[in-house]
Amino acid sequence: MLILGIESSCDETAAAVVEDGRKILSNVIASQAQEHMQYGGVVPELASRRHCENILPVVDKALKDAGISLEDVDGIAVTYAPGLIGALLVGVSFAKGLAMMADKPLIPVHHTEGHAAANYLAHAGLKPPYLGLIVSGGHTRIAEILDYTTFRTVGKTRDDAAGECFDKCARAMGFPYPGGLHVDRAAQRGDASAFRLPKSKMDGNPYDFSFSGLKTYVVNLLHHAEQVHESVNTDDLAASLQKDIADTLTEKTIAAAKALGYTQIGLSGGVSANSGVRSALEQACRENGFTLYMPPIALCGDNAAMIAAQGYYNYLAGITADESLNAMASKELRGESVQQA
Ligand code: KG4
Ligand code: ZN
Repeated sequence: MLILGIESSCDETAAAVVEDGRKILSNVIASQAQEHMQYGGVVPELASRRHCENILPVVDKALKDAGISLEDVDGIAVTYAPGLIGALLVGVSFAKGLAMMADKPLIPVHHTEGHAAANYLAHAGLKPPYLGLIVSGGHTRIAEILDYTTFRTVGKTRDDAAGECFDKCARAMGFPYPGGLHVDRAAQRGDASAFRLPKSKMDGNPYDFSFSGLKTYVVNLLHHAEQVHESVNTDDLAASLQKDIADTLTEKTIAAAKALGYTQIGLSGGVSANSGVRSALEQACRENGFTLYMPPIALCGDNAAMIAAQGYYNYLAGITADESLNAMASKELRGESVQQA
């Protein structure tokens, strides 16, 4: 079964064709990151306009690269939530029009569920149930992936996502947008024990996260140093920040896996490209005898292949939509209310 996936939730216009949820036939991404860089972050209005310009050529290329025509497609999967509303609307409107015109099923995909599905494209042996750690610029969540379409949140961030923390600290350190990658590179030159950074302490759910305190601490440290004309070794600060985030993500995920009896862990989302996060979780999984699944770096960030992969499983589960499908800036995962207070 061939699914065409479309993704436009942030600053990547993407389309891909995936066979049976597992095999990538094409994967096209038009990134706007270069353009948003001069503003230090994504400018939503600009993102929407670029999506409008890019979507037709990107979808066209995805079909051509796969060597198929629209008639060969069995369903059209699209990210409908969460994300920048104007950006999402471009993909959703385009997918609706395409599905109607070609008389194909329209399949709504939640962006976070899509990130988790990136692992299906790289690991033929991965099958639910397993524990997912999904970490991106907008989300940080530990979820039980009970079957391909049933997610139950175990813990999530109460404020900033880990990616947001990376990006805002990176900006204060003088790195260009998107900063996570630059922190990662600087961290490889730095000493992670140089700074003692705070760890969040919270009441309630032990698997929840909080990264805003860490972000504020790092930003204040840099601003203070600037005011008193002191220099900060950003390689050391980046290494310390990365270790703090990687350790927190790892400790909570391993604790949740032990408590819930999971031995398979799937890491995904933009921050899963981080070398510190990958190696910390890899080491902890090895020590505990767990199997860790991670996407290749190219499938960690936003792409449409992961949307097509999740779209395949949604379609098999009967999750389709009609022309009333709307984009939503925020939307909980299916089954969310089961676990959350
Ligand atoms: O999944 P994604 O592409 O978009 C969202 O759904 O948010 O994730 C983007 C986030 C950004 O915060 C970016 O800085 C971060 O992933 N990121 C990284 C790395 N590569 C991307 N963070 C740390 N280290 C990296 N190597
Ligand atoms: Zn994403």
